[in-house]
Amino acid sequence: MEKLFIVANWKMNGNKRSNEQLINCINDKVCENANIEVVICPPFTYLTQILKLKTSSIKIGAQNISENQNGACTGEISGSMLQDIKVDYVIIGHSERRQMYNDTNAVIAQKFELAHQNNLIPILCIGESLNERKTGQTLSVIESQIKSIIETTRIELFAKSIIAYEPVWAIGTGETASPEQAEEVHTNIRNIMEVYDSNIASSIPILYGGSVNGANSKDLFTMGNINGGLIGGASLNGEEFVEIYQAAESLINE
Ligand code: PGA
Repeated sequence: MEKLFIVANWKMNGNKRSNEQLINCINDKVCENANIEVVICPPFTYLTQILKLKTSSIKIGAQNISENQNGACTGEISGSMLQDIKVDYVIIGHSERRQMYNDTNAVIAQKFELAHQNNLIPILCIGESLNERKTGQTLSVIESQIKSIIETTRIELFAKSIIAYEPVWAIGTGETASPEQAEEVHTNIRNIMEVYDSNIASSIPILYGGSVNGANSKDLFTMGNINGGLIGGASLNGEEFVEIYQAAESLINE
């Protein structure tokens, strides 16, 4: 089993008190392990709180960055600001941002580029809607989402990036893609990237996201091309998140 990534996307949830309880619960159970990367992505306002409270075994990510480097962009947070406070990762292109805040593939490509310029590892989210799946467009949607970022930026940037496949119909719905459904898409993502760079295609971590929980995580992470999970709802419950982490730990130790 290669390295697994367990990434918590807290979305717009929490407060100082609940965050402290949550991170303490995670701190207690997450041990230093070169083969498991645990990343917590709190809202911007709590990044420094979690940076102070977390143990050194845990990394920190933001949930978004501005597509601009600096300047007159009221309400935005730049990649250099995130680098300045020692954030390691940033989620880019989450379907909620694509749908609610008009993050187009062009905007996502700019954010992807700026993440790299500021030494942040982007977790690039892609995924099809329910309608796209039902009408047999899953693979073409995935292909156009990936290709547009590769061709607007450079394939070389993917050598230090993570992809998260998150079918929109599985996010927050309790309906998970089956391990086989996810594996099929993950394999296709590698096939699409193979044309550009075969080393990057075979080595890039591809996470699955969409209603991952303590009960289904092990079956998902067992698949050869699923390198961990991007976890929303279940990451807000410390014990459940720890269960997911322990599923990864048991696979790594097998
Ligand atoms: P979920 O969210 O685990 O609540 O489905 C995943 C995500 O949106 O990243």
